[in-house]
Amino acid sequence: MTYLPSPDRYKNMIYRRCGRSGIKLPAVSLGLWHNFGGVDVAENFRKILHLAFDSGITHFDLANNYGPPPGSAEENFGRILKEDFKAYRDEIIISSKAGYTMWDGPYGDWGSKKYLVSSLDQSLQRMGLEYVDIFYHHRPDPETPLEETMGALDLIVRQGKALYAGISNYPAAEADKAISILKKLGTPCLIHQPKYSMFERWAEGGLLDVLEKDGVGCIPFSPLAQGLLTDKYLHGIPEDSRAAKSTGFLQKSQVTDDRIGQIKRLNDIALQRGQTLAQMALSWLLKDERVTSVLIGASKPAQLTDSLKCLDNIKFSAEELAKIEGILK
Ligand SMILES: NC(=O)c1ccc[n+]([C@@H]2O[C@H](COP(=O)([O-])OP(=O)(O)OC[C@H]3O[C@@H](n4cnc5c(N)ncnc54)[C@H](OP(=O)(O)O)[C@@H]3O)[C@@H](O)[C@H]2O)c1
Repeated sequence: MTYLPSPDRYKNMIYRRCGRSGIKLPAVSLGLWHNFGGVDVAENFRKILHLAFDSGITHFDLANNYGPPPGSAEENFGRILKEDFKAYRDEIIISSKAGYTMWDGPYGDWGSKKYLVSSLDQSLQRMGLEYVDIFYHHRPDPETPLEETMGALDLIVRQGKALYAGISNYPAAEADKAISILKKLGTPCLIHQPKYSMFERWAEGGLLDVLEKDGVGCIPFSPLAQGLLTDKYLHGIPEDSRAAKSTGFLQKSQVTDDRIGQIKRLNDIALQRGQTLAQMALSWLLKDERVTSVLIGASKPAQLTDSLKCLDNIKFSAEELAKIEGILK
């Protein structure tokens, strides 16, 4: 059946300006790291994509290696784009990345110009696209000069294969350097993608200040700590959870008694706020205006419906924040 997007899709989403750029991103974006690969169920992930777009999510995040197997998320996304979203390409921001191991030999990993340029060519082919909107260097490379890696991003943008450049997992000082190299080259850095959630707060130790100073957007990944910051692990590890799956990146060993204790106490505060824990964890990030968008994952449409309701209440009282800090300490 032909997919027809909801005519109301722009009614309830909040769009935030990405740093000091011309681009606005939805406050909630969808990532395809898990649940969209060759091992996953196509009908399910197609439904998730339809629901996302119907709800005003205009930004979909990929990388060369998403799957498993690596590359399959881009292939699956490309197929659905062609079949269902072809008429809406100009309403969608698609990102991809390179920086982790993708193919054998010295040119399929890290941050050389050789790797970034050829990897993006492969990603474009897998997705059936002429360009991506954002292309990221996925992680810092301690051996390649930063000038070469940023030069590759600049080249890619000048070639029209990406509209904007981004960086991911760069610590504050390195991010600052990368941003200033890109600026000198004439291709400003649009956005930084750090791991950031109530359980992972390194971005608060300088990175957010750098991004604000430099006018660069911030899109926290794994804002639900891969599902830990939801009510799903309150009573053990469910069979259909990421922690239980052999292809999941979340390890059972990360679901400790101490964590469960924190999750329970956070869940109580969420309920008092009239939210689920997932909603509160996302609102908690969005209370900071330097956060452009939260980059969530979902294994079921119902999770997306739940998470999106975070937008109904992104304000916290001083008392709520103090209670949360007390739990996270
Ligand atoms: N730049 C990087 O290095 C990097 C690294 C990692 C991720 N990312 C990006 O960030 C995106 C999101 O990462 P993530 O998937 O780890 O994000 P997340 O939002 O922290 O976790 C998503 C997972 O949590 C569970 N979940 C989500 N909503 C739920 C809800 N409302 N109730 C109960 N459970 C819920 C689901 O797992 P179950 O399977 O347990 O249902 C879902 O797959 C990725 O897709 C990718 O685009 C980037």
